[in-house]
Formats: sequence, structure tokens, C-alpha cells
Amino acid sequence: MSAADSTLLLRAARREPTPVTPVWLMRQAGRYLPEYRALRARHGFLELCRNPQAAAEVTLQPVRRLGVDAAILFADILLLVEPLGVGLEFAAGEGPVIHRPVRSEADVARLKPIDVESSVGSVFETVRLVRRELSPAVALIGFAGAPFTVASYVVEGGASRDYLHTKRLMYEAPAAWHRLMDVLADATATYLNGQIDAGAQAVQLFDSWVGTLGPDDYREHVLPHTRSVIRALRPGVPVIHFGTGTATLLPLMREAGGDVIGLDWRVPLDAGWAAVGPDVGVQGNLDPAALLARPAHFRERVKAILARAAGRPGHIFNLGHGVHQDTPPEHVQALVDMVHELSAR
Ligand code: CP3
Repeated sequence: MSAADSTLLLRAARREPTPVTPVWLMRQAGRYLPEYRALRARHGFLELCRNPQAAAEVTLQPVRRLGVDAAILFADILLLVEPLGVGLEFAAGEGPVIHRPVRSEADVARLKPIDVESSVGSVFETVRLVRRELSPAVALIGFAGAPFTVASYVVEGGASRDYLHTKRLMYEAPAAWHRLMDVLADATATYLNGQIDAGAQAVQLFDSWVGTLGPDDYREHVLPHTRSVIRALRPGVPVIHFGTGTATLLPLMREAGGDVIGLDWRVPLDAGWAAVGPDVGVQGNLDPAALLARPAHFRERVKAILARAAGRPGHIFNLGHGVHQDTPPEHVQALVDMVHELSAR
């Protein structure tokens, strides 16, 4: 058995039995950790993402502290769009801002091409540095945004509640919408394959906001593009396909592709697994807000999720979305220990 084969996360992603359920957490690196805040006090967010030494250090911080079964590369889904010339900035306390949002056919026609190597080549170096430091028992997960979620930032200009600009473009100028999605899908596949070539052992595609769409819109405006990304990836590397608010989209997400489908907390894990089918794995799905309460209060919720997984191979424990920044780090630690303890077979 090679070192990679002994990694719990990769075995679970292939639906092989594991002695305990592997666990990692979305946003396991970040502002809830004092060691992250200390580094962040000295570097801007984009600067941290683009500095391979610093980004490797941030990637490793939660692995050292928590004993999780996977590291997730420290970067951001929006790095890839900087070369489009849309004016990306992370404004303090506000999240991402795109100064020149893409809202019309003419805006789409004006987009500059994405040269992946020059825009995110530093991320590939981060992957190499992390893989060199990481224990062989811990998997390194690379990631990218799925085309819809990235497009939603490019069109809205930042976070959104209703995605009205995005939907208007989609409905009024479908050819421009598909062209934008094609540009993003091509660059995303190249980006993920670059991460894989540099040493990422699994990749996660974040379609965090796709739950704003109903199934018909997903099928027509999103599915072909997400599928084209997944089909273009190096074979044999597990793909985790994640979104939130996706209860009615799960069968279509599975059709788009992925070895493991992410479930948020709004769908019971067993119902979500039934919706995607037994021949893929699932990842999730504790409500991140549960970690604000003390461990004695979330222990029953962890047990309930493990009971719904019922020891079937193919479950990766995670939250239903990322760790909130005001989560006490001791609670996150308690969760990781609890999953290993309660799932031991
Ligand atoms: O630990 C990890 O999960 C790896 C690092 C990671 C970050 N962003 C770091 C980050 C990952 C996987 C992402 C993905 C990402 N980025 C997504 C998809 C995942 C999700 O949460 O749904 C999205 C939508 C983004 C875009 C983005 N980046 C937003 C909306 C924000 C601001 C909101 C927030 O949570 O802070 C960011 C900033 C960001 N990305 C931070 C971190 C640690 C905080 C930046 C800071 O230090 O000020």
C-alpha cells in the first residue's frame, strides 16, 4: 500500500472502509485562529494568498493544532479572476469587492483572457511547499470556485442576497452568460490540474451560492459548465463537489460530477446521500453555528450525523459550510477529537 492509499480521507473518498471517519473543516484556516490573525496583522489578504511561504504556513496552522485528516490549501476562489481586469479587492471587514462588475454582453466581450500560470502560479508553489511539510497521513486538498459561484461575484461585484444581476444576465443574454461560464470553466480546469500536478491529492469545487437557483436553471445554465470542469481533471484524483442550499439540486450536482458531494446542514445526511445515490460519497454536514455552543451541546448532533451515515464507507465529516470567525478554537478541537472517538469501528 502506498502512502497515499493509507490516507483516511482518500480512502473514504473512494468509498473504501476506514477505521475512523476522516474529518476536516471548511475554513479551518482563518480568522478564528489567533495564529492566523497574528500573520494577517502583518499582510493583506491577497498578499497572504500570493506569498507561498506565508500561505503554506497558514495552510499548516490548523493541521498542527487540530489533528485533522486533511489540509486545505490556503488561497481564495477569486484569485483566478484578477486577470480578467475586473478590479478585485478585499476591503477590510467587507469581503471581496469587484470594482468593474460584468453585467452586459459588451462587458463579457471585453474580458481579458485568463493566463493561469501568471495569475496563480504562486499557488502551485504553495502546494509544493505544503506537500513537502505535511505528514503522509494527511491529505492535501486543492480547490477552486465552481463557475457559477465565481461568475456570481464577477457579475454582482461582491456578495449578494438575491443574485439579481446574475440572473438578469443569465435570462436576458444567455449567449453572453454561457461565454462567461466557458471562460471561467476553462481557466478553472487548468488551475485545478496545475494544483494536482504540484501535489494536491484531492480537489474541492466550491459552488457555495448555487442554491439560489432552481433545478431547471441549474440544468440549463450551470450543469454543463461544472461538468466540463470535472471531466477535464486528471483521472484518479477524487473531486469533492460542494454547495449550500442545494437540497433540490443534489441529483443534478451528482450528474455534473464528483466522487463526493458536499451536503449543508439543511438536509439530513441520510436523505442527502439517498438523493445523490450510493455510488458516490458524501461530505458534511454539521451546522457551523453548532460550534458556538459548548462541546457538551454539540456532541449529540455529531452522534446524530454519524448515525445517519451508519458506518457506510464514503462519509467525510465536515461542517455544512465554513467555520465562523467567532468560533472558539477549543470547540473546533473538541469536534475533531469527538468525530474520531465516536466513529471508531
Ligand atoms: O481554510 C480554508 O477553507 C481554505 C481557505 C479558503 C479561503 N477562502 C480563505 C479566506 C477557501 C477554501 C476559500 C474559498 C472561498 N472564498 C469561497 C468558497 C467557500 C465558502 O466559504 O463558501 C468563497 C465564497 C470565497 C470568497 C470570499 N473570500 C469571501 C466571501 C470572503 C469574505 C468573507 C469571509 O468569510 O471572510 C473571503 C475572504 C477570506 N477567504 C478569508 C479567508 C481566511 C478572510 C480574509 C481575512 O483574513 O480578512
